Amino acid sequence: MTTLSPRRRWSPAGQALHWLSAALILFMLGLGLVMVEFVEDPGRRFELYQLHKTCGAFVFLLLALRTAWRLFAVAPSPPATMPGHERLLSRTVHVVLYLMILAITLSGYVMISSSPLPLPVELPGGLAVPNLIAPDYGLSETMKTLHHRLAWVLLGLVALHVLAALKHHFWDRDDVLRQMLPLVRARREGRSPVDRPPGGGLPAAERGDR
Ligand code: HEM
Ligand code: HEM
Repeated sequence: MTTLSPRRRWSPAGQALHWLSAALILFMLGLGLVMVEFVEDPGRRFELYQLHKTCGAFVFLLLALRTAWRLFAVAPSPPATMPGHERLLSRTVHVVLYLMILAITLSGYVMISSSPLPLPVELPGGLAVPNLIAPDYGLSETMKTLHHRLAWVLLGLVALHVLAALKHHFWDRDDVLRQMLPLVRARREGRSPVDRPPGGGLPAAERGDR
């Protein structure tokens, strides 16, 4: 199975899960901010809240899928030139990003589930996520505050993550960003000694996306 061998780039499944979650989370950050801060019409606001909750359920689903995939996937090795402290920082930020996505979706769910006016999260096909928590105004307000703060922390971490990816691409000029992009070739064959078989790179037929 391809996911079990050392690889030069993230698999198509890994890339798809990354970019799909990234797009949805950026959309959620923007939608959350707009619906809370800028929309005054109550009907419009209600619709946007419902959309935000439904998309939140999909973020959770994607997170579950991605975590399951990640348990079996083999990540591309970091560039040989990347110092140990940067590798540690990068792994830490990635783990914290996963945890933040979990925390923000759970805080959102507990907030609306414990609300005195519990409106369930609507799903396509007339389905809904059941409200598992009894109405509790105090809990709902605490989760709202937490949700708002987590949104800012997540935004900060995403900004750091994006800056790091751009730094790798434009400053270090390595393949970290390229290996997360579809249809883009690596700058160098065999970025690190771990990737490079003895005697050079792979035959042309095996290069690129695996
Ligand atoms: C990746 C997931 C999520 C992100 C990035 C996100 C982001 C945000 C943001 C930025 C706000 C506005 C905060 C502010 O103005 O300070 C917000 C508000 C809100 N979110 Fe989320 N959210 C997510 C998931 C969820 C989920 C799963 C639910 C519920 C099932 C939810 C329910 C709400 C509600 C009800 C509000 C409005 C709270 C209020 O009235 O102030 N969110 N969210
Ligand atoms: C909401 C937005 C985003 C989130 C939540 C996010 C999250 C993540 C996470 C959790 C990983 C680690 C993958 C793993 O090891 O399992 C990752 C990897 C990566 N992300 Fe993002 N990402 C986002 C947006 C972006 C953007 C906009 C870029 C490019 C500018 C980017 C570039 C990368 C790259 C290059 C990697 C691979 C890093 C490596 O191989 O060490 N990400 N991302």
